[in-house]
Amino acid sequence: MSTPSEAGVSTRAIHAGQPPGPATGAVVTPIYQTSTYAQTAVGKHKGYEYSRTANPTRTALEACIAALEGGAHGLAFASGMAAESTVMQLLGPEDHTVAVDDLYGGTYRLFKRVLEPMGLTFTFVDGARTDAVEAAITESTRLVWLESPTNPLLKIVDIAAIAKVAHARGAMVVVDNTFMSPYFQRPLSLGGVESLIELPAAMTHASIPADVRRASGVADGLVRISVGIEDVADLIADLDRALSKS
Ligand SMILES: Cc1ncc(COP(=O)(O)O)c(C=O)c1O
Repeated sequence: MSTPSEAGVSTRAIHAGQPPGPATGAVVTPIYQTSTYAQTAVGKHKGYEYSRTANPTRTALEACIAALEGGAHGLAFASGMAAESTVMQLLGPEDHTVAVDDLYGGTYRLFKRVLEPMGLTFTFVDGARTDAVEAAITESTRLVWLESPTNPLLKIVDIAAIAKVAHARGAMVVVDNTFMSPYFQRPLSLGGVESLIELPAAMTHASIPADVRRASGVADGLVRISVGIEDVADLIADLDRALSKS
């Protein structure tokens, strides 16, 4: 079945980019494990020549995510940091990025330890304040980097308002969505199910220097709880057990 862009989100999730396989009619897209594809003549192939460049399984995922996000194209990467590194290669020395100050530790490390020594510049501001983001934009700003909700303080950023001011100043906007799935938030038209408890200072944000971390409100004892879809009563009982032991 074809999947019109106005189809419901559940229909798009299971059908977009996933027509029955042309070779066998399989209704679930197979995992293609080949690296190279045969060509009938030099340069003549069925759209695939080498899996690093494109692979039918990945194409299905990319088309499905694009349909869920309301986007024209999707690109899948092996990890979030791989996607981030690729995005940042759009920039060069002296290009400036305005980033939310409460952001994933690996992103901070990429910006400060890898890219700043290469000449890229960064300003970190409270993303919940659109005026602060706008004030930080300069003549050399090419990118505004958002998370919403932010990791780990779960601050909400007004993506539409910031996109408006950033685009008016000629800057691109990146929304690094780790918590909110496209069911509830689609940054272009404006993920996990399991609960996760962690200590940002020792885990996800350990690579941010302690003084920078504390200044942005991430105290050493802050415990982040991302609530998933388990039964509420089970989660409360689990938390009660943990708190009674501490
Ligand atoms: C906001 C955010 N961006 C990027 C990443 C990195 O993703 P990955 O571990 O897939 O590289 C994470 C990981 O938790 C994250 O929370």
